[in-house]
Amino acid sequence: MEIRVLAVGDVVGRPGLHYLTSRLRTIRKQKGIDFCVVNGENAAMNGMTPGQGEDILDAGADVVTLGNHTWRQREIVDYLDETSRVLRPANFMPQLPGQGMGVYETGKGEIAVVNLIGQYQMDVHCDNPFYKIDDILRQYQGIPTVVDFHAEASSEKLAMGFYLDGRVGAIWGTHCHVPTADLRILPQGTGYISDLGMTGPRDSVLGIRPEQSIALFRGELTSRFAPASGSCWLTGAIFTLDGHGKCVAVEQVLD
Ligand code: FE2
Repeated sequence: MEIRVLAVGDVVGRPGLHYLTSRLRTIRKQKGIDFCVVNGENAAMNGMTPGQGEDILDAGADVVTLGNHTWRQREIVDYLDETSRVLRPANFMPQLPGQGMGVYETGKGEIAVVNLIGQYQMDVHCDNPFYKIDDILRQYQGIPTVVDFHAEASSEKLAMGFYLDGRVGAIWGTHCHVPTADLRILPQGTGYISDLGMTGPRDSVLGIRPEQSIALFRGELTSRFAPASGSCWLTGAIFTLDGHGKCVAVEQVLD
């Protein structure tokens, strides 16, 4: 039986969360989605509060993933230990709260979700994700598995894609907030995209007001970053996994 998985790019600020809430259930229905993973690590611009995590789940996500800003809203600490539906990167240092992977019921069988963070220019202490994923996949043999790789460098994401080709159903990149045009099925049957993009204001720099980002790059003093105004978009990808957990179809989402 096939499982259709929708992966949605990083939700940015109040506008992104509002747009996700207004659109996700409709997209799920229109596209016949069985399971949905949303990256929520910018719901509070920097990080995500427990309330925003619940809002993303209420909007229609089955699992929320995070990234380098995980700890910016400290209320998240207890919440991560209370819920199994919000994941922080699995290769964070082992003493940190929360979990980085889980197995979930889709209605068409189980699926495993893993959240990983890259090592290049991410400014966090973490274990090497290439070794960590080997350990994890040993536990998940026989279960269709998808991976959110929250990373900066397209090279690191592509390397991970080919490293996992044939071993997971899909791996997608998050963090860059710009959708890439390289969605495809890799030679051994793994769905791949370097970056999903984001859910947030379209006329923005990664969700932020353009004038603030321009000031930053001009070397001027900047005020606290705020989300841009105007219409939003939701970007992501749909991966169809067959009964063996291999990807048989991919479709980009630009809504
Ligand atoms: Fe990030």
